[in-house]
Amino acid sequence: MALSSSFFILTFFFLFVFLFTLSPLPVSATDHIVGANRGWNPGMNYTLWANNHTFYVGDFISFRYQKNQYNVFEVNQTGYDNCTLDSAVGNWSSGKDFILLNKTMRYYFICGNGQCLNGMKVSVLVHPLPPPPTSSQHNHSAPSSAASMVLEYLGLNSLFLSFAFLLFGFVLV
Ligand SMILES: *[C@@H]1O[C@H](CO)[C@@H](O)[C@H](O)[C@H]1NC(C)=O
Ligand SMILES: *[C@@H]1O[C@H](CO)[C@@H](O)[C@H](O)[C@H]1NC(C)=O
Ligand SMILES: *[C@@H]1O[C@H](CO)[C@@H](O)[C@H](O)[C@H]1NC(C)=O
Ligand SMILES: *[C@@H]1O[C@H](CO)[C@@H](O)[C@H](O)[C@H]1NC(C)=O
Ligand SMILES: *[C@@H]1O[C@H](CO)[C@@H](O)[C@H](O)[C@H]1NC(C)=O
Ligand SMILES: *[C@@H]1O[C@H](CO)[C@@H](O)[C@H](O)[C@H]1NC(C)=O
Ligand SMILES: *[C@@H]1O[C@H](CO)[C@@H](O)[C@H](O)[C@H]1NC(C)=O
Repeated sequence: MALSSSFFILTFFFLFVFLFTLSPLPVSATDHIVGANRGWNPGMNYTLWANNHTFYVGDFISFRYQKNQYNVFEVNQTGYDNCTLDSAVGNWSSGKDFILLNKTMRYYFICGNGQCLNGMKVSVLVHPLPPPPTSSQHNHSAPSSAASMVLEYLGLNSLFLSFAFLLFGFVLV
């Protein structure tokens, strides 16, 4: 009984290793929650929050606040500096708004009900995606090392896979 449950744990350990360290999963987009657990509220300095984050194309920025009390407008720099809505290109008011940052530019968001003057404004600079760490270091001029890496990768994967299924099958019978 104890033996089979430890095999079970081992199986899941190797499946975990296989899935999360060997599979070429893309780096997932980050959701940046404005103000973290303090949310989108008056009396905060969101410049300090923004300075503590790095934004990449494809990331989300999300605003959490009391619905019907506050809202979010995307404006330009003039709107941000002066707390005006003439330049608004978008507005959100669900209380839990996810906004895709899909351009390399500086975005400006303000609250549209007067609380912008009480600090409810945030500006974020969105950077292009960093190059993937492995492909940027390996070059077409080194095909043999690239090929050996692929072989090593496949070999490791199938090794872990067969080991995992061996254990899994053993537990099942
Ligand atoms: C917020 O913090 C930034 C960075 O320290 C500072 O430059 C800015 O004046 C502050 N804004 C307010 C409204 O206090
Ligand atoms: C900056 O980020 C660190 C780590 O996530 C956190 O501990 C700290 O409170 C943050 N500071 C501000 C001003 O958000
Ligand atoms: C924004 O406010 C500044 C003063 O804070 C003023 O000089 C400028 O004309 C204003 N811009 C607009 C477009 O209202
Ligand atoms: C922002 O938009 C307003 C209204 O469309 C415009 O007058 C102003 O020049 C714009 N400011 C910037 C910095 O683009
Ligand atoms: C908010 O956005 C909607 C479209 O999504 C638009 O019809 C509406 O006029 C906007 N509201 C304001 C106050 O700009
Ligand atoms: C960015 O997203 C907005 C809406 O979320 C969409 O209208 C726009 O076409 C997108 N732009 C790009 C370059 O994908
Ligand atoms: C890739 O190879 C080219 C031509 O051999 C070389 O000029 C370039 O510096 C290499 N880049 C990297 C990142 O090794």
